[in-house]
Amino acid sequence: MRRTHYALALVLLSLSGCARGCTSSRPPIHLNPNMDVQPRYEPQAGSAFFYDGAAMRPPVPGTVARGELRDLVNEAPYWTGKDTAGAFVASVPLEVTDAVRERGRQRYDIYCATCHDKGGDGKGILFERGKVPTPSFHIDRLRQMPDGQIFDTVTNGLGLMPSYRYPIPVADRWAIIVHLRALQARRLERMGGAAPVQAAVPEAAPAAETPSPQVTP
Ligand code: HEC
Repeated sequence: MRRTHYALALVLLSLSGCARGCTSSRPPIHLNPNMDVQPRYEPQAGSAFFYDGAAMRPPVPGTVARGELRDLVNEAPYWTGKDTAGAFVASVPLEVTDAVRERGRQRYDIYCATCHDKGGDGKGILFERGKVPTPSFHIDRLRQMPDGQIFDTVTNGLGLMPSYRYPIPVADRWAIIVHLRALQARRLERMGGAAPVQAAVPEAAPAAETPSPQVTP
């Protein structure tokens, strides 16, 4: 009786192969097909089960994620940075409170400072290490740029700057712009309101005075 036990144990051992630590190019033999081995689809894999042949299922048409119900008629400036006529809005369509300013500073430092640096001079770590040509925010063109256009740049990206549509929610994008304006205002103030350093780009027609949000630097 005992001998059969030993024999059985040996057979089991040889079937189960090497224990942990041994590498093998062959898949392990699973005597007990437990939850390690489950039928599943890889991302982007095909499937013969669904009519469209894709395993990944899109949300049901008309699905709206929480907080993402967009009123593009009455709240177009907030969601798109443009008014209903398609023109960039001049200022942040949001009540600017201390909480918004603080949120903007924090988000700016996280998302923008890597390239634009904390002061907005475009000398962030990616400029230092990779010489990514990043503009300074302290040039006339960007001082006069409507807030809606900056929102659009952050949302869609521009040239080497990636889009931040997905990592930064809409409200945070606006808060970041509030901080960006505060950086500009503070720099102007420190320069005694002197004529700002010009970018090496020819100015088009004199840009209209752009009202900036009511922020105290
Ligand atoms: C990976 C580096 C990088 C990050 C991060 C980054 N930017 Fe930029 N940004 C750039 C570069 C490069 C340009 C110049 C793009 C061009 O003109 O081709 C630019 C341009 C801009 C401009 C000027 C657009 C124009 O019309 O000239 C604004 C405004 C701007 N960035 C705002 C932001 C804000 C706000 C954030 C944070 C949410 C941010 N950027 C994050 C690299 C970056």
